[in-house]
Amino acid sequence: MTSYTELGLVNTREMFRKAMEGGYAIPAYNFNNMEQMQAIVQACVETGSPVILQVSSGARKYANQNILRNMARGAVEYARELGREIPIALHLDHGSSFELCKDCIESGFSSVMIDGSHLPYDENVALTKKVCEFAHSQKDYVTVEGELGVLAGVEDDVSAEHSQYTQPEEVEDFVKKTGADSLAISIGTSHGRTKFKPEQCTKDANGVLIPPPLRFDILEEIERKIPGFPIVLHGASSVAAEYVRIIEKHGGHLKDSVGIPEDQLRRAAKSAVCKINIDSDGRLAMTAYIRKTLAEKPEEFDPRNILGPAREALKELYAHKCRNVLGSAGGA
Ligand code: G3H
Ligand code: 13P
Ligand code: ZN
Repeated sequence: MTSYTELGLVNTREMFRKAMEGGYAIPAYNFNNMEQMQAIVQACVETGSPVILQVSSGARKYANQNILRNMARGAVEYARELGREIPIALHLDHGSSFELCKDCIESGFSSVMIDGSHLPYDENVALTKKVCEFAHSQKDYVTVEGELGVLAGVEDDVSAEHSQYTQPEEVEDFVKKTGADSLAISIGTSHGRTKFKPEQCTKDANGVLIPPPLRFDILEEIERKIPGFPIVLHGASSVAAEYVRIIEKHGGHLKDSVGIPEDQLRRAAKSAVCKINIDSDGRLAMTAYIRKTLAEKPEEFDPRNILGPAREALKELYAHKCRNVLGSAGGA
């Protein structure tokens, strides 16, 4: 049994309080390997941003949970070495069961998500409440994110073809009954790199697909029902055309890629949205620069020279998000 404080980590409470006050959102970047972790820490130290290191079930299978939590401890020390202490949380993304959340909490995670969004309402309430009771009774308070509403696309092991917007009438009851510390909602974002079908989009003068706007009306209604309560946006990658172009130029095929425009995320970050999840954008940036290096340097076979430029591109991307999209720069 390890408490997150032994790893130098923090829960999300204070981060969210400051983010709400300051009108910005904390980045929750998914990580699965060392290069991603280094890029995240470098970007957040450079911009002075607090950060949530996010671990999915897929990441646990790929990298091993024990290695990941020790990498989070390494992230804290690395930030210090780079010259700035920043608040770092280690968060379970899309926890699918009480047992999984308990296991993560006992191994040093400072925050967990219990994703009961696919369950009938009462079952979602019961499961989320059970996780909250356990997480909150720890010696060091572990924060819990619940979810209401269903995002289209793949939610880790859970997938849905059609989204179901969060119903504002349910949020107050959910938060009161479960004791959750934050709430993920569905207002039109979606996981992955193809967030919308082309027929759902319009086109600009250059033929670039423009997605339908987020449902800010639903977000505002939710804010009225639970004022000051931290809201989370999943599926918030912007899927930059620049990375898609590099990938396609060097042999990749990423047809019909569409993300959430940055100006919409900036607007959301100024509201009660305190945490914004980004995974696909990081995957695209890494893939773009790995493909580019391999294409331009066919004689290269040292993984460090292949992954190094990808790590640098990732760092630039995350720093840009903190400064210009989420507004978390300087919040540490
Ligand atoms: O929400 C899903 C995340 O992007 C994680 O995806 O399970 O493939 O690691 P993953
Ligand atoms: P993206 O696929 O849009 O990056 O969303 C990631 C996410 O929500 C992780 O929980
Ligand atoms: Zn998600």
